[in-house]
Amino acid sequence: MRRLLLIVLLLAMAGLHTFAQDNTMLAPTPPMGWNSWNIFQTNINEPLLKQMVDSYVSSGMKDAGYTYFVLDDGWMAMERDKNGQLVADPKKFPNGMKEFADYVHSKGLKFGIYNCAGTKTCAGYPGTRGHEYEDARLYASWGVDYLKFDWCYAEGMNAREAYKVMSQALKATGRPIVFSLCEWGSHRPWVWGKDDGQLWRTTGDIGPYFDKPVTKNGWTPLTVLNILDRQDSIRQYAGPGHWNDPDMLEVGNGMTVNEDRAHFSLWCMLAAPLMAGNDLGKLSEQTKNILTNKEVIAVDQDALGIEGFRYYAFDGIEIWVKPLTGGDLAVCFLNRSGRAQTLNYDWTAHLINDTTSKTSVDFTQTTFKIRNLWSKKDLGTTQKVFKQPIPNYDVVMVKLSK
Ligand code: GLA
Repeated sequence: MRRLLLIVLLLAMAGLHTFAQDNTMLAPTPPMGWNSWNIFQTNINEPLLKQMVDSYVSSGMKDAGYTYFVLDDGWMAMERDKNGQLVADPKKFPNGMKEFADYVHSKGLKFGIYNCAGTKTCAGYPGTRGHEYEDARLYASWGVDYLKFDWCYAEGMNAREAYKVMSQALKATGRPIVFSLCEWGSHRPWVWGKDDGQLWRTTGDIGPYFDKPVTKNGWTPLTVLNILDRQDSIRQYAGPGHWNDPDMLEVGNGMTVNEDRAHFSLWCMLAAPLMAGNDLGKLSEQTKNILTNKEVIAVDQDALGIEGFRYYAFDGIEIWVKPLTGGDLAVCFLNRSGRAQTLNYDWTAHLINDTTSKTSVDFTQTTFKIRNLWSKKDLGTTQKVFKQPIPNYDVVMVKLSK
């Protein structure tokens, strides 16, 4: 009898272990993809999106590691059908959602979709409240690989419970589906979201602005720097399988090339999910070079999954550091001073001591080789004072290797 109990216990533990592993395996590194919201909002339709899928592949985004193609708000008909099922808007998607998902998969990409925990989506389409299990089954039948789950029209709901129910509904389908919690950081999802999903938004919505907020239609989205300044205190909650999500990328959506480069670099320093949000059919060379810089992406995707931190600041220049595999480091100098500057930085004058990742570096004891990840040039070692021009609202991003 005892032996039987022991066997049952061991089997149960093995089951739990596999389950926990699966949750991590869905996103061992921050998910990478494209999402329709930032550029198109609800103005989406099948021909436009198929063109985005084609450009995703032909532009080199897929080769650079982007995998998910996510439809945001606005894909549904205004009402559920007579059986209570969600349906794709027949005008926007005349061939239905399964056909569109098949198209995405046929190009070697994974397919993501959007809904809300509340009674309606933020744009007023049918929400999931009370339909969690049937919606999850429907998504699985379409071949959905990623669900972004928003938090509008959720009055009276408990965020933690609402996201747990949807997470369980997704798990019950048996299909691996990445679960992106989008409740804007209102209920500290970094504390409880890890068991439910793979990424959680940490703030309200981003806009294509670096520093100065712009109000449109009575609404003021956050700037890149607003969001950056809210990440440092929660970095200990991110790691392989569970990521802080500072919102999707605005690269290519109207900021200057310097600002776009800084935004992308900083998101990579944060080990952020990289969801491009620009018109892939109109990708300029500059935007493409930013979004597909493999050496910068490798910083984001580093297997240790350590979120970077603001390590030092002087004269309006911040230094962000991200420990990487093998004792290497990514270092990003951000100029937010309002004027062009020349860096003049003595590595040996500053110790790095990060208790969260248990990283300490003394540049008087260890010498690193320096590689500039944007100019793709090797720039000597940390024994010499580091001199580099740095325009306003731009970065110098380097990798230090032993
Ligand atoms: C919220 C989300 C956005 C987007 C819109 C869609 O604002 O935070 O990312 O999904 O809803 O309506």
